[in-house]
Amino acid sequence: MALVSPSILAANFLSLGKDCEWLNNSNADWYHLDIMDGLFVPNISYGMPVVQAIQSVAKKPLDVHLMIEKPERYIQTFADLGAEFLTVHWEASTHLHRTLHAIKQAGMKAGVALNPHTPVELLSDIIADVDLLLIMSVNPGFGGQNFIENTYHKIEKAKKLIQAKAAQTLIEVDGGVNTQNARKLIDAGADVLVAGSAIFGSEDRDAVVEQLKKS
Ligand code: DX5
Ligand code: ZN
Repeated sequence: MALVSPSILAANFLSLGKDCEWLNNSNADWYHLDIMDGLFVPNISYGMPVVQAIQSVAKKPLDVHLMIEKPERYIQTFADLGAEFLTVHWEASTHLHRTLHAIKQAGMKAGVALNPHTPVELLSDIIADVDLLLIMSVNPGFGGQNFIENTYHKIEKAKKLIQAKAAQTLIEVDGGVNTQNARKLIDAGADVLVAGSAIFGSEDRDAVVEQLKKS
């Protein structure tokens, strides 16, 4: 059964407390928090005060996805904010090995995200150090975009690499995930499904979470 990490970017910010309460009581597994800086991606989402407010009520792990330049600047900040997983982009981190170890040193699990154009093979020398491999299935920056079909193939390649290196890395997929493509994503090797609009845009969020998990 897949883990489901609802993306708070698609929640209703006017009643965020209510949406957090729903997530706490749902069968969803993590909180997916998208942090954007307007540089690495062409959009700005929300920052530390919002993460802190969510953390104060969250009863599930915070899965923080940093879409920011030089993410190493904020490792301690997100550790202090209670992140369990801190994911940085391969494209945004020059000294990725050092960054991953600094994340672990700060007490978090270390994630690496790959943009759609970035090949999985680039992680072959570092995969054993990666707790979470986040495969972007849209170009990062916005919720509600269309799923990129090449993702299935990319997940299969990631799974093979993880197995070949006997690593324990979880594969997470993010962007355009819904009840139609979940089954194929899990069959390809995905362990964690991020979903924003598919969950928060639905009349029956619990049913969507159930369908994603049981796909
Ligand atoms: C996109 C973000 C995603 C986004 C997913 O840059 O990383 O987490 O919120 O939203 P949906 O599921 O609507 O594509
Ligand atoms: Zn994300």
